[in-house]
Amino acid sequence: MLSLSKITLTQFKNYSHSSFSFKERVIGICGLNGRGKTNLLDAIYYCCFTKSYFAKTDGLNVRFDHDGFRLEAASSISPKGGGNGEDHSEEYEKQIKQYEIVCIYKGAGKKEIFLNAVPYTKLSEHIGKFPAVMVAPDDIELITGGSEERRRFIDTVLSQMDSDYLQDLIRYNKILQQRNSLLKRFAEQGKTDWPLLEVLDEQLMEPGNSIHKKREQFTEALIPLVQQFYVQIAGKDEQVSIQYNSQLNETPFHDLLNHCREKDFMLQRSNAGIHKDDITMQLNGQVFKTTASQGQRKSLLFALKLAEFELLKTNKGFAPLLLLDDVFEKLDDNRMSQLLHWVCNENSGQVFITDTHKERLQKAFEKLNTAYQVIEL
Ligand SMILES: Nc1ncnc2c1ncn2[C@@H]1O[C@H](COP(=O)(O)OP(=O)(O)OP(=O)(O)O)[C@@H](O)[C@H]1O
Ligand SMILES: [Mg+2]
Repeated sequence: MLSLSKITLTQFKNYSHSSFSFKERVIGICGLNGRGKTNLLDAIYYCCFTKSYFAKTDGLNVRFDHDGFRLEAASSISPKGGGNGEDHSEEYEKQIKQYEIVCIYKGAGKKEIFLNAVPYTKLSEHIGKFPAVMVAPDDIELITGGSEERRRFIDTVLSQMDSDYLQDLIRYNKILQQRNSLLKRFAEQGKTDWPLLEVLDEQLMEPGNSIHKKREQFTEALIPLVQQFYVQIAGKDEQVSIQYNSQLNETPFHDLLNHCREKDFMLQRSNAGIHKDDITMQLNGQVFKTTASQGQRKSLLFALKLAEFELLKTNKGFAPLLLLDDVFEKLDDNRMSQLLHWVCNENSGQVFITDTHKERLQKAFEKLNTAYQVIEL
């Protein structure tokens, strides 16, 4: 089991210097609006992903009027069985691996991440070692927003499960950028250099095809799980159907690039590739994002996140950290207790849940019959 025992935040968002110790598997974080509940979850997320879940740039995480921030987290990964404090044998204790993650942002885009005092040369190597799933209020964009939200969702999960995927993605995006700049240059200079474009096309195809294949396999596993969780949360027999849409599903990448060449030249950007992929969803045959009710959208969001969680868990052999921000605001009492029961009782991983009402949180935890800790900010 992966668990976090302590985190220290220095000059991170509204925190000047604060430490939190986590002693249980189920942790409630409560406090009034603006006290830093979401920021604390984000600090945990940062230590797992080397970036914020919310802020687009590292500078936004620095406490106002300061130059940098520092996060330190103590974590452990213990083998299956024996967790929950039942097994304290020497043999078992020996198998528990302790980790210290330190993230230092020095300003001006400079950051360093250390694992047990050893700095990473490539930050991407850290991704997937400490898997985590966040569910935050604005995540509903995953259902209602543009296709880039759903691609990011797939990429976040796959990157944690498969480091080659992440490397392919980094490479693909870099070549895509070069290709787009080249198309712009063609337009500016009023002349084309097709052989040069073909060199980039060749380079784009390799990671592109590999990403497509992995997305195809991943969504094949994801979709039935999402449908299963949806029924579990919604408690009704609503038919949700989901598809992975990619231009590459029907046509080889090579042909697509050739077909789109003139269009690319006209529009000065690349129109074919896995950067156009999407996941489409329907409820009883109608487009989900335009017809489903708010509650149904929220239920589908949770179904997607829990499916993500399950796939990561299977892949890693232990449960990821689950970071639930303001979920009480999102679901009715029934759906909420269904969900809490699942995340706290049926799941064996560590769960962090924020809420503005301490009493509501405690009452919900009491019903679960599991050890918990409540931190008040
Ligand atoms: N870079 C920063 N430096 C200092 N303070 C910041 C920074 N970024 C955000 N804050 C402050 O952090 C606070 C918000 O914290 P956070 O979003 O974690 O609150 P919360 O407890 O989740 O509140 P809510 O219940 O409304 O969701 C705000 O008061 C905001 O001004
Ligand atoms: Mg918040």
